[in-house]
Amino acid sequence: MNQRPHVAVVGATGAVGIEMIQTLEKRNFPVGKLTLLASARSLGKNLKFRGDYHQVTELTKNSFKGVDIALFSAGGSISREYAPIAAQAGCVVIDNSSAFRMDNHVPLVIPEINAADIASHQGIIANPNCTTAITLIALYPLHRAFGCKRIFASSYQAVSGTGAKAIAELERQVEQVARGITVTPEVYPHQIAFNVLPHIDSFLPSGYTKEEMKMENEGRKIMHHPAFRASVTCVRVPVYRAHSVAVSAEFEKPVTVQAAREVLKAAPGLQVIDEPSKNEYPQPLYQAEQYDCAVGRIRKDCAMDNGLCFWVSGDQLLKGAALNAVQIGEALLEQFKSQPEPALAV
Ligand code: A2P
Repeated sequence: MNQRPHVAVVGATGAVGIEMIQTLEKRNFPVGKLTLLASARSLGKNLKFRGDYHQVTELTKNSFKGVDIALFSAGGSISREYAPIAAQAGCVVIDNSSAFRMDNHVPLVIPEINAADIASHQGIIANPNCTTAITLIALYPLHRAFGCKRIFASSYQAVSGTGAKAIAELERQVEQVARGITVTPEVYPHQIAFNVLPHIDSFLPSGYTKEEMKMENEGRKIMHHPAFRASVTCVRVPVYRAHSVAVSAEFEKPVTVQAAREVLKAAPGLQVIDEPSKNEYPQPLYQAEQYDCAVGRIRKDCAMDNGLCFWVSGDQLLKGAALNAVQIGEALLEQFKSQPEPALAV
């Protein structure tokens, strides 16, 4: 792998794509060349990277010649169609969609948890679901220390998780309510302004949604914990940015608040904000645009043995998407650097 790789961003004009470009810049990712790809609708748009404007070009089957790393965030159907083409062209795809996450040949990675899995990739590496990523940043260190059997959780998910159109929908509806005119839902099935919707992704025959089952399915794969169980209710809330999750976790071993706090304080990518007497706890408003997630409201669960409750918030456009993808790219370069040079034939 070229240590100054040619990087492509697929879905560059979207809510996550924009964050990917900014995260590459802010983290000084050693981009040798940048290609920005979106639909024909975005032709003529220019996006800034390191002080220069880069033209957005249309995604086609030929977009990946010479590209080393492609960050995809243009939805599942685009990933399903173009990620294999990109991998075939020799680039490593880091895919933010759910298309390949549960594929046995595709590592599903949160670098703080299972960076070593990257080495087994065959051209595609998957970025986890945003709510799963934010939850596991706090849950995994507790699992390592106390052995997590199962969780019960409710999420409070920001509209930017649905994309740029949903941010515009919340803005429009807030104004419609303020002006006393008819509210027009387009992206969501119901009004999202001044409301909460216990409905994210499509419903399954079990009554859970697909989004809700990602926590158990992806959690098992990322934590290498096939017996992990998760009962989740995912809720869309009228928050612009950053998801929160209320978690009740049951452990194999007894767990005290003090011991849990020590574990969480030492965990990578996580701040502990937990001073109830000062009204201090994680809030999405303040987690927006932060790389680290934050955990608080840590307490013994009063309804189960070896149980712990906590509340975790994190910027889902960053740790739940763009930041995690760029961190995978960083780990990929690092792994390549540490590989021995192939012996020269004599
Ligand atoms: P475009 O802006 O040209 O429609 P979001 O999740 O915020 O809605 O963003 C989705 C991203 O995926 C955008 O960058 C969007 O580009 C891109 N996208 C959607 N459909 C296609 C397509 N058919 N080909 C390439 N990019 C697409």
